[in-house]
Amino acid sequence: MTQRRILVTAALPYANGHIHLGHLVEYIQTDIWVRFQKLRGHKCVFICADDTHGTAIMIRARQEGRSEEALIADMRDAHICDFAGFDIEFDNYGSTNSETNRELCHEIWAALRNDGYVTEQSVTQLYDPKAGTFLADRFVKGTCPKCQAENQYGDNCEKCGSTYSPADLINPTSTLSGATPELRSANHLFVSIEKLHEFLEQWTQSGEHLQIEVANYLKGHFLGEPLRDWDVSRPAPYFGFEISDSPGNFWYVWFDAPIGYMASTMEWCRKQGENFDDWWREDKSQISNLKSQTSDLKSEISNLKSEIHHFIGKDITYFHTLFWPAMLKASGFKLPTKVHIHGFLTVGGEKMSKSKGTFVQAATYLKHLDPAYLRYYYASKLGPRLDDLDLSLDEFVDKANKQLVGGVVNIASRTAKFLGGKSLCETYPADGGLFLFAAAAHESIAEAYERCDYQTVIRTCKELCDRANAYLDERAPWTLAKQPDKAEEVRQICSVGLNLFRQIVVYLAPVLPRLAQQAGELLGAPISRWEDAQSPLTGTPIANFQHMLKRVELKQVQNMIEDSKPVELLTWVEQGDVPVPAVQSTDGPEALEKEPLVADLCSIDDFTKIDLRVARVVSAAHVEGADKLLQLTLNLGGELRRNVFAGIKSAYTPEQLVDRLVIVVANLAPRKMRFGVSEGMVCAAGGGGQEIFLLSPDCGAVPGQRVH
Ligand code: MSP
Ligand code: ZN
Repeated sequence: MTQRRILVTAALPYANGHIHLGHLVEYIQTDIWVRFQKLRGHKCVFICADDTHGTAIMIRARQEGRSEEALIADMRDAHICDFAGFDIEFDNYGSTNSETNRELCHEIWAALRNDGYVTEQSVTQLYDPKAGTFLADRFVKGTCPKCQAENQYGDNCEKCGSTYSPADLINPTSTLSGATPELRSANHLFVSIEKLHEFLEQWTQSGEHLQIEVANYLKGHFLGEPLRDWDVSRPAPYFGFEISDSPGNFWYVWFDAPIGYMASTMEWCRKQGENFDDWWREDKSQISNLKSQTSDLKSEISNLKSEIHHFIGKDITYFHTLFWPAMLKASGFKLPTKVHIHGFLTVGGEKMSKSKGTFVQAATYLKHLDPAYLRYYYASKLGPRLDDLDLSLDEFVDKANKQLVGGVVNIASRTAKFLGGKSLCETYPADGGLFLFAAAAHESIAEAYERCDYQTVIRTCKELCDRANAYLDERAPWTLAKQPDKAEEVRQICSVGLNLFRQIVVYLAPVLPRLAQQAGELLGAPISRWEDAQSPLTGTPIANFQHMLKRVELKQVQNMIEDSKPVELLTWVEQGDVPVPAVQSTDGPEALEKEPLVADLCSIDDFTKIDLRVARVVSAAHVEGADKLLQLTLNLGGELRRNVFAGIKSAYTPEQLVDRLVIVVANLAPRKMRFGVSEGMVCAAGGGGQEIFLLSPDCGAVPGQRVH
């Protein structure tokens, strides 16, 4: 088999939010594919990065009272940690906010300019005079011009489904500042991709660059008419790269984001001593020898050298199948071999929902459950098409317990214990053809992996598991083990069982890397190649059996869901854009009776002695040895940080606090405690226990503001 050189990317996650179970559909799908290619002996490189630019990040940084750089640095750490927790292993994890990316953007831009792809056009957009920024559609709300429904977003009405331009909204308001936006014009730079219409037609409709339904979708929705120019610049203020030949204008985030694939590859190349051009540039030397060939054949041949595979979700199809190939083509870079597109995650048949607790972050999952369950579950549901994938929690528990623990792991747990400290038979015993049968399945399993049909992989492996378990049920080594004269027979049965186990684990190694690692340790031979499933192990010493994977309790899943719900005490209902607390039913006298108004009158001067400030919780942690305290690091604006010990552990977990705004007494004399110095106090209502309600300002307040 010739060794392929395969570059694989997953979409670059936005740096304005944490990784959640929806994202993981993609990163797990891609990681499995990469691990499969590596196991097959191909040279495969898995590239990703954080997508850091754009308005959303600029706004979030403002709201949190810190720089964009600080925000994206924290988020990158969090993403890397989440991915590692799910055994998603990148060869390089970059950032679109890197010098390498900036340079590549300039190079591609220069090529587009040179070849006359760039035009300038005036764009009229809503502008927020108070926040001093142009408003993307999702930052404008108002009344629908068609059906008069109030409180609709800038570009479409959820009530009647119509789409419109934000300028048509009745009574528009900026969700950033509440100001009434005004129309302003600015010159934007556009890329005329219509010039590449013919190329895009040919590239999307021929070869196997896209799944067939995607090719058809593009043909039906876009390629039938002239392609509209693509607006790739945004006027200041914008967090991104300034366009060198157009000062005051920045590249739109979707211009520099896919270039981030290249920049991250380049970083990897520098570390590995690889040549970037081999991976991303059209291979000129081979092409020049082929002057007479059609361009199609030329690009096929240049692709032989290395392949580029993008994995993305269906929501970003347009960017990856039209804009991106157009940019690559126009600037002389290599085109993707294939764009693999997957559907969206639903939970229990519905969109993930914060209030129902089904919007589960990666980190929350990992607090309650082993990553292997989710990798296995997603694999069992993923096919080569774009269908949405539903996470049913009952089915999740069922598959983890019956198929993974009760099926796969069970083969090892009921055989290895009889061989611990001994070794496998010197010659592989007769097994009625089980091993050969499973060995022969390797080709169809490999083909299924190759076309991202993991459902079929899992189904085939389940059949192999059933056969192995049926063999063990019939031979019942656990019964024979009680008879001293049957020791050799037990050893033979278990040698067969463990070899069948190993074979299945080789096939599942891309899905379950930890199990593959454990199996290697148990059997004294690491699993490192696909061919490891082709010949049985003999004579190797068996380690003492260590537990591999526990059964899941439904309770763990329920706890994860509970943990993902906004806490009752903190429930906010969206009313316009100012969050207000959920209406509580009683205005009864109980609370006041418990704590009547008894404090002496104070003057306004007395009150102003207390310097109350808005602060953001940067981090929160348990304090060892303290039952009631949480340790908070607060940001009071700019670089000003405070360490505060707050007696709120009975009502809040650290995770609920991170990133929220609180009110802090900023000039309270520091107090030395057993655990350290407390440099302030956070304000809360309530009598203690579960009844602690932190104060927070309305949306729009920023750290450092004084409370009067
Ligand atoms: N930053 C862009 C991608 C730029 S690539 C040059 C982006 N980021 S994202 O964080 O919103 O999404 C990252 C990937 O996760 C996308 O491919 C997206 O389709 C996928 N998913 C995000 N939510 C998802 C689900 N609920 N279900 C399945 N995939 C989902 O888009
Ligand atoms: Zn409407």
